[in-house]
Amino acid sequence: MQNFQQRLIQIIEEKRSWTQRGQVAKYIPELSKANPNILGIAMIDLTGQIFTAGDIDYEFTIQSISKVITLALTLMDSGEEVVFGKIGKEPTGDPFNSIIKLETLRPGRPLNPMINAGAIAVTSLIQGRDVSERFARITNLIQKLTGKEEVRIDHSVYLSEKQTGHRNRALAYFMLNEQVINGDVEDVLDLYFRQCSIMLTVADLARIGTVLANNGRSNETGEVIIPGRIARIIKTFMVTCGMYNSSGEFAIDVGIPAKSGVGGGILAAVPGKWGIGVIGPALDEKGNSIAGSQVLQVLSRELNLSMFTSG
Ligand code: DON
Repeated sequence: MQNFQQRLIQIIEEKRSWTQRGQVAKYIPELSKANPNILGIAMIDLTGQIFTAGDIDYEFTIQSISKVITLALTLMDSGEEVVFGKIGKEPTGDPFNSIIKLETLRPGRPLNPMINAGAIAVTSLIQGRDVSERFARITNLIQKLTGKEEVRIDHSVYLSEKQTGHRNRALAYFMLNEQVINGDVEDVLDLYFRQCSIMLTVADLARIGTVLANNGRSNETGEVIIPGRIARIIKTFMVTCGMYNSSGEFAIDVGIPAKSGVGGGILAAVPGKWGIGVIGPALDEKGNSIAGSQVLQVLSRELNLSMFTSG
């Protein structure tokens, strides 16, 4: 495995030039300050062995990767009937922040929990007295999944999105009108912007990945953190919708359940084998880490990780 550690370093250095073909997210002003050349990875197998390469100390905002966490939380809180009574299970083929199908499809429900509309509706279901109690429930789950003592947000990114996230505001108010969301919409948006600005490292993402890869059970303590069926639902959404309107291409080229964020992170879980975290803030035109996707493609090929290959 010494060889594999060396190979991982080589893959990162080989693929770093791809960062120049992408661009950091600019629509959230604070994210445009990210260094586009960053590339890093952590991989943890189910025995706890860790392999890392590249910019592994870099803390980044998880953005849409938080959608996986809030979906797990609401499914545990309220069950499938309630959650999927409001949010569908189908991919959209549209960009992550699209509004079009909310109006053209009847009923006006978001198609899945991985697009912004669906994730905002999921966040509206999180239980708790107020925003701070609800947010603490999200960070508690992340602490259980990662073993971190403290989970912090990037305050500037949070404020930046709160001030400029008019499109998300439009999605939320539309869903209020359709009664997909009830209650205080501004509170729901505030919680959504907070969850998006949570800061993690690639090793933290890899730890979350191992729990998903291990059917919701901690590979360290054996504790069930997420019930097996919910872990399965989440991994399935990661395959069908996790990379947005690149999910089909990613399933063919990589074949691993994965969820991206516009901060450049990718959380991946290879069932029964690996948890993987990747960071590369330069994005492709669909909003996924451009070099990060390349790295996962090479790893999938060399380690035979696609779920859709046998033998
Ligand atoms: O709501 C937004 O637009 C961002 N906070 C998160 C979007 C995102 O990460 C899409 N990912 N590729």
